[in-house]
Parts: sequence; C-alpha cells; structure tokens
Amino acid sequence: MPVLQEVCVCGQPRPSEGWPVDRLLNTWIAGRFHIRRRLGMGGTGLVYLAERFYPPGPVAIKVTHDRLTELVWQQRLEREASVLQRLRLAWTVSLLEYGQMADGRHFIAMECLEGRTVQELLEQRGALPVSRAVSIVAQAAEAMAAVHAQGVIHRDLKPSNLFLLAGEPYDQLKVLDFGIALDLNRWYDIGDRENLIGTPRYIAPEQIVTPDRVDGRADIFSLGIMLNELLTGQLPFPWENTMAVLIRRLREAPLPLEVAMPSAALPDRLYRTVRRMIERDVARRFRSMGEVAGALRQVLLELKHQDEVDDVGRGLRMAS
Ligand SMILES: Nc1ncnc2c1ncn2[C@@H]1O[C@H](COP(=O)(O)OP(=O)(O)OP(=O)(O)O)[C@@H](O)[C@H]1O
Ligand SMILES: [Mg+2]
Repeated sequence: MPVLQEVCVCGQPRPSEGWPVDRLLNTWIAGRFHIRRRLGMGGTGLVYLAERFYPPGPVAIKVTHDRLTELVWQQRLEREASVLQRLRLAWTVSLLEYGQMADGRHFIAMECLEGRTVQELLEQRGALPVSRAVSIVAQAAEAMAAVHAQGVIHRDLKPSNLFLLAGEPYDQLKVLDFGIALDLNRWYDIGDRENLIGTPRYIAPEQIVTPDRVDGRADIFSLGIMLNELLTGQLPFPWENTMAVLIRRLREAPLPLEVAMPSAALPDRLYRTVRRMIERDVARRFRSMGEVAGALRQVLLELKHQDEVDDVGRGLRMAS
C-alpha cells in the first residue's frame, strides 16, 4: 500500500515510491513515444522519460495518475499545455505536443530537463548556504515576474516545482507544473477560481479564504515560505496535518526568520525581505515579483560586499 504523505488541497493523496506496478513502462504512447523510466511524480501526474521515434531524442511525458480519468483532471493537463504554449519563456519548459493515449487519458510531451528539483536538493543537502538559497529564489522571482507579465498566476510554487538544470551556469532554474495555474487570458476558466487549490505547506492565506480573488501576490507568499525553508531547513509554520496547517495559516503569524536563524552577520535586508514576502496581510506584502527579485538581488550584493570586507580583514590580520 502507498504511504499517504500529504494531501493536496486539490484533493489528491500523494503516494510515495512503491505505487503498484507501472503499466506504462516500456510501452508506446501515441505510437511515437517509447516510455523508458519514471522521472518524477506529483499529486496530479507521473512524468516519464521517453524516447521519441522521430526526430529521435529524449522527451518528458506527463500523464495523470491512471485513477484520475475524470474530465477535470484531463482539463488540468490541457490547461498546463495551453499555458506552456503561451509562455514560451527561457524560464519554462517547451511544449512539444499535447495528445491523447489509447486509454483516453491525455498527455503532454515536453522538453526533458536534466538536473534536479529544489525539493531533491533540500532532501540531499538540508538548509543551503545563504547566498545559494537567495540566488535560487531570486531567479524564481525573476522567472515569475515574466510569467505574471503574461497574465498567468502559478498558484502552486514549491520546491518540487522548481528545477535546477545540471551544468553551467550553475543552478540555472526552470519553473515547472502549471497544472493549477490561473490563466487570466482564459476567461472561461473562471469557475476554477472558486475552488481551493494549492499545496497546504506553501499556500497563501488569501488562496484559502478568497480563492476567487488571488493575484500574483499569492505566488510571492509561497516563494517566501520556500526561501525560509531553503535558509533554515524548516517551514515558518509548523506542519501537523493538512487541516491544522490551513487553520494556522489563517490565525497565526509565521515564525520570524530572525528567530529561526538569528545572525548579526546577515544583512538586515534579508530579514525584511522574507518578512514582506510571507506577510499574511496581502496589502503589506511586496506588490510584484519584480520588486521581490530586486530586493533579493540587493541582498546578494550586500552578502558579496560582506564577503569582500571579511576577505580584506582576514588578509590584513595575516599580514600583521
Ligand atoms: N520536463 C521535465 N523534465 C524532467 N523532469 C520533470 C519534468 N517535468 C516534471 N519533472 C519531474 O516530475 C515531477 C512531477 O512533475 P509535476 O510537478 O509537473 O507533477 P504534478 O503531479 O503536477 O505535481 P504536483 O504534486 O505539484 O501537482 C517534478 O517534481 C520533476 O521531478
Ligand atoms: Mg509538481
């Protein structure tokens, strides 16, 4: 039996490894994609590495879990395909094809990435060095500024949806999984705005209470939670279970970074930035991802300056 780890508010249990035998492995999808191995799994879907028949080469194929055959799940995949098609950013994966399998489920064929998710990095390394954590989230903020500029709100930013490419430049980032994104260009998606969707650990308070009125600031909140987690290895709201975390999100203030990671050596701007990202009152949060990216770039400059001052100090001490 799978172990239920966390329940997405979108309603799906998140099975751990060990889910029953995968019937798609070594089969062909749509006569052109040979499924080789599983790359990842989320609450909605499974992502496979496949070999394309022509032109030959690796692709990533995303399908919904085989029990999720209802129209709503297929529509989510369709929405993801349509958002990827619209965005076409260096920050997002390119869509190759959107189609249907013999069993009726839909699939997305997309560019296959090499590297690891930020979630995998967290599991391997725990808390990251400050500049690395800040630089990953600064890139994510820049990416999301470009996504928001095209009228798309992600609504599910979290470490498993951010991917770090292998190779140079180091830690180059892509934003994944637009399955529950809100595409403001699609007025006919309006019904979906009333549902509570997202991932409890990262969801913004207004996404719980007024899901019909979220804007890009909900993504800023989720990214702030993630920055806190990358810096400390912990979430600023303790995790008990889905319902408890949702209630806490509405009633309690997050544990300040100053308490979780006090340090006189860190720029005050870092603490201020995290605080303004995870501000529960949306009116007091940063107004745009562009502002967040700017603040985080400034933090990086201050950290670099601090390192240089420390290096000079060390040099002087050694010379004397
Ligand atoms: N293009 C890709 N190339 C390589 N790996 C990928 C790609 N897309 C997704 N993955 C892997 O598959 C995992 C699941 O993908 P994705 O987040 O799209 O699924 P999901 O079911 O919508 O997730 P969620 O639980 O957030 O709803 C990712 O965390 C990542 O490890
Ligand atoms: Mg995901």
